[in-house]
Amino acid sequence: MRALAPLPLDKAAFREKYGPWAVIAGASEGTGECYARELAEMGINLVLISRRQSALDELGQKLKSEFGVDYRAVAQDLTEEGAGLRILDAAKGLDVGLYISNAGADNFVSFFEDSTESAHRLVRMNISTLIDATNGFGKGFLSRGKGGIIVMASGAGLGGQPNLALYSATKAFEINFAESLWGEYHERGIDVIGIAAPIMRTPMLLRTVPADFDLSEVYEPADVTHNALAGLLAGEPLQIVPDGPGQEKQPQVQADRKARLVAFVEFNKMFTGG
Ligand SMILES: NC(=O)c1ccc[n+]([C@@H]2O[C@H](COP(=O)([O-])OP(=O)(O)OC[C@H]3O[C@@H](n4cnc5c(N)ncnc54)[C@H](OP(=O)(O)O)[C@@H]3O)[C@@H](O)[C@H]2O)c1
Repeated sequence: MRALAPLPLDKAAFREKYGPWAVIAGASEGTGECYARELAEMGINLVLISRRQSALDELGQKLKSEFGVDYRAVAQDLTEEGAGLRILDAAKGLDVGLYISNAGADNFVSFFEDSTESAHRLVRMNISTLIDATNGFGKGFLSRGKGGIIVMASGAGLGGQPNLALYSATKAFEINFAESLWGEYHERGIDVIGIAAPIMRTPMLLRTVPADFDLSEVYEPADVTHNALAGLLAGEPLQIVPDGPGQEKQPQVQADRKARLVAFVEFNKMFTGG
C-alpha cells in the first residue's frame, strides 16, 4: 500500500465550522464509510445515503454506538432523475453544515461498444445530482454564513483517459465545478474542495480489477479522506493526490490551478462589481 502523510486537522474547529450534521452521498462503504467514521469521531451527526438500506443501517448503528452520534439512513440511487432533490428531502429539518458528494465511480468501458444509457446514468450521478444537491445545501450555507462541500473527483478528471471517456469527462466537470464554487463563495465563509483522488483500495476497486492486480501502488481510502477533510478546513480549492503517469508534475499542477483561480477571483470583480 502507498503511504500518504496525514495533514493536520483541528477537530474542534472542524466540528464548529461544518457541524452539527453532514450529508454523505455514497456512504455505505469505501471512501464514503471513511468520511462517515472520521466525522462521527468528531461528533458530527450523519445523513447516510446510498442504494443499500441494510448497509447504511448497519453503519449508522455502529457509529451511533461507538461515538454517540445521530444518523439518518436513506436509500437512494444517485443515478436516478431527481436524486439530488431527494437528497435535500432526506436532510429536511436538519442543520446541515457539510455536503460530501462521494459516489461516482465507473467501470472501464469502450465508449463505442457500450450503450449511451450507462453514460447518461453516470452524467446524472456525477453532474445532475451534484448540481441539485450542492445548489440546495449551498443556499442553506449562505443563510447560515458557513458550510462546506467536498466533491470526490479523480485524477482522471485532470485530462482525458482511454476507456474512461465519460468518467474522465464527468470528473473534469466535478473539479472545475468545485474550483468555481470555491472562487465564488470562499470569501463568504463557504468552503468547497475538489479531490483529484488516486487509485484507492476500496471495495469497488477490488470488485473491478483482475485478481492479480498489483496493490502496492494503491492508497488507503481513509488516508485520502482524512486529507480531504483537512484540506477543506485549510481552505484549499483542489487536492491532487499524486498518482499515475506524470505524477511528479502534479504538485505543480495543483499550485498552478490555485494561482489561476485566485487571480480569477480578483479579475471577475471587474464584471460583478464585487
Ligand atoms: N477507488 C478508486 O480507486 C478511486 C480512484 C479515483 C477516484 N475515486 C472516486 O472516489 C469516489 C468513491 O469511490 P469508491 O471506489 O468508493 O466507489 P463508488 O462506487 O464511487 O462509491 C461507493 C459508495 O457509493 C455508493 N454508491 C455507488 N453507486 C451508487 C449509486 N448509483 N447510488 C447511490 N449510491 C451509490 C455505494 O453504496 P451502495 O452500493 O450501497 O449504493 C458505496 O457506499 C468516487 O467518486 C470515485 O470516482 C475512486
